[in-house]
Amino acid sequence: MSPAVFIDALKNELQRTKYGQYPPELYDPIQYIMNLGGKRLRPVLTLMAAYLFTDNWEKAIRPALAVEVFHNFTLMHDDIMDQAPLRRGQPTVHEKWNHNIAILSGDVMLVKAHEFLLEVEVHKLKAAMSRFTRTAAEVCEGQQMDMNFETRWDVTELEYIDMIRLKTSVLLGYALELGGLIGGADEQTTAHLYEAGVNIGIGFQLKDDLLDVYGDPAKFGKQVGGDIIANKKTFLLIEALEQATGSTKAELTDWLTQVDFDKAEKVRAVTTIYNQLGVRELTEARINDYFAKGFANFEQINADPARKEVLLQFTRQLVERES
Ligand code: IPE
Ligand code: IPE
Ligand code: MG
Ligand code: MG
Ligand code: MG
Repeated sequence: MSPAVFIDALKNELQRTKYGQYPPELYDPIQYIMNLGGKRLRPVLTLMAAYLFTDNWEKAIRPALAVEVFHNFTLMHDDIMDQAPLRRGQPTVHEKWNHNIAILSGDVMLVKAHEFLLEVEVHKLKAAMSRFTRTAAEVCEGQQMDMNFETRWDVTELEYIDMIRLKTSVLLGYALELGGLIGGADEQTTAHLYEAGVNIGIGFQLKDDLLDVYGDPAKFGKQVGGDIIANKKTFLLIEALEQATGSTKAELTDWLTQVDFDKAEKVRAVTTIYNQLGVRELTEARINDYFAKGFANFEQINADPARKEVLLQFTRQLVERES
């Protein structure tokens, strides 16, 4: 089975899915963001995890869609919080419409995610729901920590890892866990799937931080340098703050405290400091570490090797991704 089979199944379901019609200001932005594409990474993980344990992986499609709708809801609100102009190469919802529309459309997406998840078989529904609500709360916790960190200068690497575990990784963990649950895996196996997702998710967010600085604007689909402009405490900035000394440290701190600045100039200057300090290589090494942990978690899982290979191959290409 090739990953394309899962992606096509999702695409078909997405095309069939209606979120609502009236008022259009509420529902059009949902169609808009859902149709912008994206990697569809989380729902693919759900389907691949289900396929490890059942031929009937298609019963995981609607629940997988729940995870994707939830993810897109977090993006819609995240883009307001991060004042992001671009998402998947197109204007963000709050830019194309306005903030209130992005807030409320996002809210109803969260409701829709629950609605889609209700399609899990009844004897697995409580587990699927309770893990989902826990995960959703954790994503909000991580997002608030991310915002709190913007105005702090003493964020440690440990705090950072905890923040990205919450805002990003637990959802990848849940996506895999949900697939396992629907496929019929036992509790120990779903726990391994969850752990794999969390470790891969940490690597994935580290890569996102890296691409935010070093990504090709034509491929990345988001504003390159957005994290630098917002003083986000990314892994790169935390490392740079730790490693910089003397005039480099003074220059970095100066950029972080400036209120009125030319955005492009700040991005250029901070990127130059990153280059001098070699934080790119440090980040790449850390990405590899977390993905390796994730693969070690996958090794604990007892499943048909050919089916597992589909999941492993899909996961591997996330390390090298450019968007
Ligand atoms: C973006 O997620 C937000 C992060 C958690 C880094 P993705 O990189 O999966 O975004 P899409 O869905 O493919 O656009
Ligand atoms: C966002 O992290 C994670 C969530 C949306 C919960 P980022 O703010 O780095 O995601 P992007 O880069 O905007 O996609
Ligand atoms: Mg953010
Ligand atoms: Mg963002
Ligand atoms: Mg980012």
